[in-house]
Parts: sequence; structure tokens; C-alpha cells
Amino acid sequence: MKKRILFVCLGNICRSPAAEGIARELIRARGLDYFTDSAGTGDWHTGEAPHSEMRRIAGERGFPIDDLRARQVERKDFFDFDVILAMDRQNLRDLELLKKQARGSAEVRLLRRDGVDIPDPYYGGADGFYRCFDMIREGVEVLLSE
Ligand code: 4NP
Repeated sequence: MKKRILFVCLGNICRSPAAEGIARELIRARGLDYFTDSAGTGDWHTGEAPHSEMRRIAGERGFPIDDLRARQVERKDFFDFDVILAMDRQNLRDLELLKKQARGSAEVRLLRRDGVDIPDPYYGGADGFYRCFDMIREGVEVLLSE
């Protein structure tokens, strides 16, 4: 069966939509058969497009994400997805708790196999967004080569 991957951060407007945009493009380019989506542990930005700075950088790098819209993680995600990938340790802790409450079966882990957190770029400047994008891209590249 097609593998289903969910990328999760806090707001679902910076890190996880970038991860989804990178993953779906690499999956398409490599002819892989995965379903991808992204969500946030928080609900403040539900229905919003990704952050303008992240949209700009992602577009510049060839991974347009203007069509994505934020949503919050829900109980059914722990059944609908095979793997749920957290951008940082706080997201991971929140997801582990939600998984326990949902009694779901999805594997929950950090995106980066090397254990590195993708820092939240929301309160920083453009540099943070670039750094964050490149860290996510490396993480997704490793994920898809596994
Ligand atoms: P993200 O960044 O988790 O990478 O989408 C954030 C976006 C919004 C907020 C925090 C982080 N916020 O507090 O609204």
C-alpha cells in the first residue's frame, strides 16, 4: 500500500508546509508512490496559506507551496498516516501525547534522523527561514533515500 507521511510543526505555516512542498516535488520527480500532507499542533493559523517568507524561499528553490493551507493535527491522523514527522522536540512531545490519547498506530518521530531540531523561524528574520528551509530539505532527502 502507498506509504502516507504527515509533516508536523507548531503553526503549519512555516516548517511543515516547506517539508510537504519539498517532499511532494522530490516524490514526483523520482517517480515514488507516497501520499504527503502537513499539519500543526496548534490551530491559530487554520485555513491560512504558508508564511510569505517561506512561500518566497520555497518558490525560489523550485518547491512552490502557495496552494497549501494550514490545519491542525487531528485524532484520525494517527490512523490515516504511517509516519508522522515532527520538526522539533516540542512537536514530538506533543505528538506522542496526542498519539497516546488517540490510541493510534502511526510511527511518530523527528524528521531529522540525526536528532537535530528544525528551529522555529517565525519570530526571526529571513536568514532563519533560509537556514530552516535547507535543514528541512536535507531531512527530506534522507527520508526519501531510506
Ligand atoms: P511553524 O512556525 O510552526 O514552523 O509553522 C510557527 C508559526 C506560527 C506560530 C509559531 C510557529 N505562532 O505562534 O503563531
